[in-house]
Amino acid sequence: MPTFTTEQKFIITGASSGIGKEIALFLNRSGATVVGIGRDTERLNEMKSNAVYPENVFVETKDLTANIATLPVYIKQLKEKYGKFSGMAYCAGIVPIQPLAITDLDTVQDALNINYLAPVFLAKGLADKRNNVGAGTSMVFLSSAAARISDKGHLAYAGSKAALCAAVKSMAKEYAKNKIRMNCILPSNIRTSKSPQEYIDSQIQQYPMGFGEPQDVAELVAFLLSKEASWITGQNYVLDCCSF
Ligand SMILES: NC(=O)c1ccc[n+]([C@@H]2O[C@H](COP(=O)([O-])OP(=O)(O)OC[C@H]3O[C@@H](n4cnc5c(N)ncnc54)[C@H](OP(=O)(O)O)[C@@H]3O)[C@@H](O)[C@H]2O)c1
Repeated sequence: MPTFTTEQKFIITGASSGIGKEIALFLNRSGATVVGIGRDTERLNEMKSNAVYPENVFVETKDLTANIATLPVYIKQLKEKYGKFSGMAYCAGIVPIQPLAITDLDTVQDALNINYLAPVFLAKGLADKRNNVGAGTSMVFLSSAAARISDKGHLAYAGSKAALCAAVKSMAKEYAKNKIRMNCILPSNIRTSKSPQEYIDSQIQQYPMGFGEPQDVAELVAFLLSKEASWITGQNYVLDCCSF
């Protein structure tokens, strides 16, 4: 298991819930300092109270879609508050389900805002050498298997996640010369507290090893953020157990 030092500071978006929460707690257990971002302050504080080293967990309440163009400035403000960052795990996201016949522009735009535009503009801020520790900085973005195999009704979700995968490849090529790495993870179904039992029951036959757990994602994120992954950038990792 990779280990980190408290000097290594990582931004974790979506830290108030599900996969992002688990990643924040996992990195904290592994020795890193984490700055967890979400909209729900109460759930962010609950995440912090569950940490093994709560003194190394900081929380920031923020709607990442409120003013996307200013997210690079937001990163600069976080840098001034916490110091330079070693990287980020971008886990904020929404999963709209809407068939084409009733799709409206707002739904598609909402998905693009949080699943595609916000991570790109946070990456812009974090890739700025004034805000990161330089060589070894690593960013991991939660995309989805839906970017490859999309289901009915997933056009907004799948499109936004596929756009993120493509953008990360391009950004990674730009920053490889600076040894700043960027990768995507594409999980299939991960069991979180928000997974309704009837949904699990309807899908589980496709999963020979059952649904994934948030810790399965956290293990791969920690590896990709660590120096052990120092030659890996611009990649899209499907996280799955032969479900498709
Ligand atoms: N669970 C799965 O099976 C699965 C599979 C593949 C990919 N993924 C991806 O993995 C990521 C995490 O999924 P999850 O299941 O952990 O979802 P989740 O439990 O619903 O968590 C979503 C997180 O995103 C945050 N968020 C949403 N909109 C935001 C906004 N406008 N500004 C700031 N934060 C915002 C939420 O913050 P608040 O609650 O504080 O508002 C929450 O912390 C998502 O990108 C999802 O698409 C999940």
